[in-house]
Amino acid sequence: MEASGIALVTGASRGIGRAIALDLATRGFEVVATMRNPAAGESLVAEAAAAGTRLRVERLDVTDHDTIAIPEGLRVLVNNAGVEAEHPPFEHTPLDLWRTMFETNVFGLIEVTRRAIPALRASGGGVICNVTSSSILAPVPFYAPYRSSKAAVMAIGESLRTELMPLGIRVVEIMPGPIDTDMLEDSDRPAQAIEFPEYAPMARKMYDGRKLSLAGLVTPTADAARAIGDAILDDDGPLRSGCDPLSVGMLEAWRHTPDEDLMRAVMTAWEDRV
Ligand SMILES: NC(=O)c1ccc[n+]([C@@H]2O[C@H](COP(=O)([O-])OP(=O)(O)OC[C@H]3O[C@@H](n4cnc5c(N)ncnc54)[C@H](OP(=O)(O)O)[C@@H]3O)[C@@H](O)[C@H]2O)c1
Repeated sequence: MEASGIALVTGASRGIGRAIALDLATRGFEVVATMRNPAAGESLVAEAAAAGTRLRVERLDVTDHDTIAIPEGLRVLVNNAGVEAEHPPFEHTPLDLWRTMFETNVFGLIEVTRRAIPALRASGGGVICNVTSSSILAPVPFYAPYRSSKAAVMAIGESLRTELMPLGIRVVEIMPGPIDTDMLEDSDRPAQAIEFPEYAPMARKMYDGRKLSLAGLVTPTADAARAIGDAILDDDGPLRSGCDPLSVGMLEAWRHTPDEDLMRAVMTAWEDRV
């Protein structure tokens, strides 16, 4: 697609969303950078203006449906807003944690998307870009709430990719690996499962393994945003893409490995470690 018209990004106050907003503005879109607290967007507006691009900030909390306003002329929707939480063992995870996670990562995204489709259709088509996570691609213990919220979006994207194709609306899914944001920094500690004796060995090994596997692979937000911008513009691109070396590699392995082989390989690795 051509980089023109309006692109709306959710969760653009910081992290990947902020970088996507800047990237899309640089490419020529008129960007509506939405966030819960518009004051957090002052530096983004200044940076975009200094680069001579068009970007405005609007308040949008995906869990507060009264704040969801979709502009006319929408060509691109980037569903980026997301939350992560503590990672206790499944049996000790309160239902409220699941509900909070799904309220933002799933139901918020659904409502924004539902309202955006008529605007995209009226523009003659466009792109919906859902930001999920490469963690879906591996059976990571203690991450069931986060991973399943992202897996729900993965399934939503598959159905929508087909359903919206006749309307000229292309759906893409970005599955980031480790990107240098507050979310990644916050997760740089053992899962809360470490507080439970039965689960502590696995939680400890998992944290040690995580540090090893991420070493040298944390990707700057601007690099991830460039890959996401490329995926949005690529009319012939796949449904799913990575946006950093680790997620690109994981996605490739996932595509070429039968699911049971992958499951067995990961579980064997955990067996060896615990
Ligand atoms: N960083 C990674 O390594 C990584 C890996 C895989 C997937 N992801 C996914 O990438 C996306 C961006 O993550 P990030 O790393 O940039 O995280 P981040 O630095 O924690 O930023 C999250 C963004 O989402 C916004 N947000 C949270 N709840 C919201 C709500 N109810 N309504 C609107 N905005 C809301 C936050 O706004 P506030 O500033 O108001 O809190 C913030 O702008 C998320 O969907 C995340 O799951 C990230």
